[in-house]
Amino acid sequence: MEKTILLVNGPNLNLLGEREPEIYGKTTLQDIEEKVEEIAIKGGFKLLPFQSNHEGEIVDFLHQNSKAKYLIINAGALTHTSVALSDALSALKIPFIEVHISNVHARESFRHHSYLSPMAKGIIVGCGIEGYYMAAQLIADRLNAE
Ligand code: DQA
Repeated sequence: MEKTILLVNGPNLNLLGEREPEIYGKTTLQDIEEKVEEIAIKGGFKLLPFQSNHEGEIVDFLHQNSKAKYLIINAGALTHTSVALSDALSALKIPFIEVHISNVHARESFRHHSYLSPMAKGIIVGCGIEGYYMAAQLIADRLNAE
């Protein structure tokens, strides 16, 4: 886990590429995971990607990988609802960057609140899928500067 970065995607993000492309673009989650892995490897890190539509599975994954160096997380709708995920991130203290493809602040008001943001090291919102790549590069640079 020494050199591992986690990439976690929550509910419905397995549908990237076909889901509301006008909001989320046409790139698939697999393409995103591959590109993030490329950035991680170039920086000297391993990437462990995970996607689930189930809150408890994401909590379990975080518990099992709590020794990872850093986390990139787009929790999808769980961002706005999940006290369980918020509690897991508080308890485990894995440093993380929260990513949202769309600008949640320009959308419905229920998307404006995040249960994760108070613990995040940084938040990248509304930059499209590039937000994942920006997060990965930032993390690799930060960890290598330590
Ligand atoms: C999202 C924004 C959330 O509000 C939504 O439920 C998602 C995707 C984003 O990446 O823009 O599933 O996290």
